[in-house]
Amino acid sequence: MSAHDQADPRVLDADETDRRRVRPGGRDARLLTGLYRLGWASMLANGLLIVTGGLVRLTGSGLGCPTWPRCTDSSWTNTPEMGIHGYIEFGNRTLTFVLTAIAVATFVWGWRLRKQYPRLFALTVALLAGIPLQAVIGGITVRMQLNPWIVGIHFILSAALVALATLLVERNARARAGRALSTVGGPARAGLWGLAAGSALLLYLGTLVTGAGPHSGDSGDVARHEFDIEMLAKAHAWVAIAVTLLVVALLVGVPRLAQRAAQPGEASEAGGVAGLPAVPGPAAMKRLTALLLVLLVQGALGYYQYFAGVPVVPVAIHLFGAAVIAALATSAVERGLRG
Ligand code: HEM
Repeated sequence: MSAHDQADPRVLDADETDRRRVRPGGRDARLLTGLYRLGWASMLANGLLIVTGGLVRLTGSGLGCPTWPRCTDSSWTNTPEMGIHGYIEFGNRTLTFVLTAIAVATFVWGWRLRKQYPRLFALTVALLAGIPLQAVIGGITVRMQLNPWIVGIHFILSAALVALATLLVERNARARAGRALSTVGGPARAGLWGLAAGSALLLYLGTLVTGAGPHSGDSGDVARHEFDIEMLAKAHAWVAIAVTLLVVALLVGVPRLAQRAAQPGEASEAGGVAGLPAVPGPAAMKRLTALLLVLLVQGALGYYQYFAGVPVVPVAIHLFGAAVIAALATSAVERGLRG
């Protein structure tokens, strides 16, 4: 049990099935370790797909394979005459098979733990279900001539899969360590939920900016959102600033509030909710610090690409940053809210 658990006057026990004593070197420990590695593989592969999907767009290869599921009406693969765009788009489609292999392996591995750890197993089912769903949305994207609403959903689903894989990794680590579920109260709790919602909104607004801009499919023939791109970019940037300030508040403001509330003569419940700690545990604080650093770099890059006319390389790095933020925000919220 960590120091944070010990400090918790109230520990959640709703997930008792996920909190068994795992015998070191025993069957469960070995299976959980395998599942942990597969969770990481799934997180990285889904993150990679976000970047390669972006490269398809940024190199104007969106219709490199003009149809789906075949590459052309007469061929399953790209042909040399299709040039570099065919290779790039077909390469991105091939990655779907790698993802499928990882998702199937994760599900099969999780199946062996389904009775002891039903919640971990449920995550492996969701990760597996996401792959065919993503492949179909990818297909609709091509058939609807890169309609920006569908391209946006395609991105958001990948980000959601990164978040699910992150949950699998974090919850698996908790199960292996036999750590109790614990939570925080008061402003910290509200702030962590706000961070989850704010990050999702931030990513979605980003896809709208892209959909209204020059990189939506990277070809003059592709339809764009009809919104005013300047207004969208401003909204996207304001939400980025709000999320960054929220992380600063969680890292600095919440501990200060708690300290002040703990002074003699002040209200005795630092968290504002009876018995709950007011400050997220050290693991959550570490993740929030990493998230803050990535948000600052990502924000600076966002402004640079906005004023520089969205050059391809920073836009690709911005996409990578978005995948990292999806993982880090999920990880920070999970550790903050569940210990
Ligand atoms: C700091 C957190 C931020 C995150 C997580 C983030 C995330 C994203 C995402 C997910 C996209 C869509 C990528 C795509 O669909 O291909 C995007 C696009 C964009 N973002 Fe951000 N963003 C952040 C901050 C900013 C800031 C502060 C600006 C400044 C104005 C900015 C400017 C842009 C622009 C111009 C695009 C469109 C790029 C294109 O045309 O492809 N971003 N962002």
